[in-house]
Amino acid sequence: MKYKELYRAAQQIMQNAYAPYSRFKVGAALLTKSGEVFTGVNVENSSYGAAICAERTAYVKAVSEGYREFEAIAVASSGGEAYPCGICRQFMFEFGEELKIITGEDEDHLHITEIKELLPEGFRLNKEY
Ligand code: THU
Repeated sequence: MKYKELYRAAQQIMQNAYAPYSRFKVGAALLTKSGEVFTGVNVENSSYGAAICAERTAYVKAVSEGYREFEAIAVASSGGEAYPCGICRQFMFEFGEELKIITGEDEDHLHITEIKELLPEGFRLNKEY
């Protein structure tokens, strides 16, 4: 799947965002290495800290369905180009350092970065511990 198409999927799902508090809608579309796409939106809460970001929603959906290998994630927002927050960066890093992050103002101005650029030296639990 082309990254432009993935970004469009993120833009489309954004309309389902539940963001009555920030009014900042975010949509994400996560592409697995085998070609499936899982989408997600931000879901806010009266208890603000309980909100979940669009990226983690997409990951939770995919991992719940048994997918753990991802190629790319596109992120679209109602407020212009948006890069994943710090918590989401760590969350995504867990599943691979090569993940591509697709962001942009619109589908004709996309920026492609990798999670290892956005989160150098991300945390890994030493399994020997
Ligand atoms: N948000 C995301 O969905 N993804 C991000 O990477 C950054 C922030 C959401 C959380 C909250 O619902 C709204 O954007 C404003 O912070």
